[in-house]
Amino acid sequence: MLLQIPGILSSDEAARMRAALLDTTWVDGKVTAGHQSGRVKHNQQLPEDSKLAREQGQQILRALQGNGLFMSAALPQRVFPPLFNRYRGGGFFGNHVDNAIRHIPGAGQIRTDLSATLFLSEPEEYEGGELMIDDTYGAHQVKLKAGSLVLYPSTSLHRVTPVTHGERVCAFFWVQSLVRDDGQRTLLFDLDMSIHRLRQQLGDHEAIVAQTGIYHNLLRRWANP
Ligand code: NI
Repeated sequence: MLLQIPGILSSDEAARMRAALLDTTWVDGKVTAGHQSGRVKHNQQLPEDSKLAREQGQQILRALQGNGLFMSAALPQRVFPPLFNRYRGGGFFGNHVDNAIRHIPGAGQIRTDLSATLFLSEPEEYEGGELMIDDTYGAHQVKLKAGSLVLYPSTSLHRVTPVTHGERVCAFFWVQSLVRDDGQRTLLFDLDMSIHRLRQQLGDHEAIVAQTGIYHNLLRRWANP
């Protein structure tokens, strides 16, 4: 499932975060890349141990916890502390699949089930810089408003096209989900959304109580907390 979630941050919050991040030291993005992806990665990042990155990352994690759509779609077990990147001057990231396992400094490892990009620059501030994500239906082009997020399976081949003008700043992170399989997780999300819509129309109808039971019994069957 490829899902766009608007308004994780307001445009003001995103602008403040962007301003804070620009006033700091960036390093070559190859520091967190694997062997294959390092050869095609041409951008900059904040160092993982940067105090500023940690603080801004905490704000993003709090916003994610308060977002029902993210929680329902990702069913997060562990979320990697957000990292930050920027592309400018023709910077791009060629085709790659994200590393399956990532080390969280001082906190063990996570399996990357879902990849996420939170856009912090407004789309009109830069040219190029589209996130292209391939799935069985073809290639999807993603370029969102500041504060909006895209969530997609980490198994996907993806790339960022060259930023030919302006500057593209984003946060990115990975999620280890309670439900590892994308197909099962997508079914649970679809069912949850359907129950929400029915409840809005019908209130606490007994059939909705039954469906909610089915949702939880599927989650019980598939989740690995
Ligand atoms: Ni990637």
